[in-house]
Amino acid sequence: MFFKTDESHPLPHHPFKACIVPRPIGWVSTVSAEGIGNVAPFSFFNGVAQNPPQLMVAVNGKTPHADTKDTLQNIENTKEFVINIANYDLRNEMFRTAAPEHPNTDEADVADLEMTPSTLIKPKRIKNSPIHLECVLTQFVPLLCDSESERNTAIFGKVVGIHIDDDCLVDGKVDIRKVNPISRLGYKDYATVGDLFQMNAKWRKS
Ligand SMILES: Cc1cc2nc3c(=O)[nH]c(=O)nc-3n(C[C@H](O)[C@H](O)[C@H](O)COP(=O)(O)O)c2cc1C
Repeated sequence: MFFKTDESHPLPHHPFKACIVPRPIGWVSTVSAEGIGNVAPFSFFNGVAQNPPQLMVAVNGKTPHADTKDTLQNIENTKEFVINIANYDLRNEMFRTAAPEHPNTDEADVADLEMTPSTLIKPKRIKNSPIHLECVLTQFVPLLCDSESERNTAIFGKVVGIHIDDDCLVDGKVDIRKVNPISRLGYKDYATVGDLFQMNAKWRKS
């Protein structure tokens, strides 16, 4: 099938998000200007550069409480955020933190998540998450948005500190089976990592 995206499509659900999969889940913790913590998952998320390490999270639409999702508002105000890697053990807590809570409510409390201080920035980390990336804002990029009452924004950040659970390191490498991250697929589907395989670049000298 083919359809132009600015015209209607014949499918029961828009297939776009099911076409770009699996998407890693950036489970973002922030703090408001008033000091209230916030946690929410985002799958429009990825690393974008290594030297220095940088990543992107896209926050789209609004909440029933405000024109701007708390995560975006908090990063606009404080310029700092933590990416916590969501794994299978934490899947229910991750999902619970997606509920549109009032800005005065810390989703960490609602989802019964234990938080622990970060090393370099103010927002706390989700203690049981195996990997935390402490980030500082580098830029906001406003994206196209079909709705005048909403906004889509790409948030870029520099990773200034990385925590990795020692139990997830084997021979100095991150063991993905021990991290066991979850990813977002289309519709209501999620996945864990399946079969692994290696590829060696023979054209590389080292
Ligand atoms: C797995 C998952 C991935 C999500 N990805 C995104 C995303 O990429 N962008 C977005 O704006 N919302 C996304 N959401 C919805 C937000 O988590 C939700 O709107 C949340 O209430 C935002 O919280 P906040 O207002 O505290 O920032 C996702 C939800 C789930 C469960």
